[in-house]
Amino acid sequence: MSSFRLDCLRGKVAFVTGGGTGICKGICKVLMSHGADTCIVSRKMPVLEEAAKELSQATGRQCLPVSADVRDDASLESAVQTALKKFGHIDILVNGAAGNFLCPLEKLSAKGFKTVMEIDAQGTFNASQAVYKLAFSKQREGGVIINISATLHYNGCLLQTHAGAAKAAIDAMTKHMAVEWGPANVRVLGIAPGPIAGTEGMSRLDPFTNADSMGDRTQKRQTRSNAHSPNDLLSMYIPLQRMGVPADIGFACLFFCLPEAAYVTGQTLVVDGGQALTVPNF
Ligand code: HXC
Repeated sequence: MSSFRLDCLRGKVAFVTGGGTGICKGICKVLMSHGADTCIVSRKMPVLEEAAKELSQATGRQCLPVSADVRDDASLESAVQTALKKFGHIDILVNGAAGNFLCPLEKLSAKGFKTVMEIDAQGTFNASQAVYKLAFSKQREGGVIINISATLHYNGCLLQTHAGAAKAAIDAMTKHMAVEWGPANVRVLGIAPGPIAGTEGMSRLDPFTNADSMGDRTQKRQTRSNAHSPNDLLSMYIPLQRMGVPADIGFACLFFCLPEAAYVTGQTLVVDGGQALTVPNF
């Protein structure tokens, strides 16, 4: 169900990194349900092909799966070229590809830190620059970039130094890109999701199902917090009393893509049921 006009993105093309799974697949579904075609990009072609089929069947729009590693600027440029060859233009870029795991800071290897920085932060830079150079800078209409962030770094939570640092870099890029590319009619926005049910991120990061990787101090904090189950967490820490769903993020994205948001840029919108206002993280 949508209160938006179902053809409000008709004729638009979205290039979505990480679009084969989780939150970004949900974003694609919302954009495509409102008329957009998409190009979804990640490393695993079989996952992309399956997702593209499902998304097209559900929405009647085209979804082009293209395999690329966002850490590799050449492979991303070639993915952008492939999308342009198929659709002729790109109007929306969603930077959603991300990597994460729970790891105590003292145990995090240099390569582990670097890997997440490269997927999240470098990947956002690579895709933004490729889409800007090859598409947005050549189109009078410019384009919209949406960077998927997080709230991890607002309070400096445990076990997530790598991802928090990467997401902080992304939030900074949202502002820098908005200032630098605004004159080219490119709006740059961020969305910081809270806990979204049924996603790979949630299964990797849920403290109850990942107790083994949490370390002693964390487990002590979890016990002290009196939270014994995900339901306890909801009532203690999520004011709106439910986990998010991918469509919650998708609809925030949809608004940012519309002409009604034409004067909004450089901002990151938190979509988390109010969680970041209350949760201290374990
Ligand atoms: C400690 C780990 C680790 C873990 C990997 N590493 N997993 N360290 N704990 N659980 C370390 C490895 O040991 C290695 O360092 C380095 O990271 C690189 O690992 P590789 O497996 O070689 O890297 P790669 O194959 O490129 O995989 C990248 C990945 C992987 C991030 C590690 O998990 C991945 O591909 N994830 C993509 C999907 C994903 O994570 N989705 C969830 C996103 S959720 P050494 O030194 O040992 O060689 C999200 C939400 C954020 O981003 C905010 C939510 C609120």
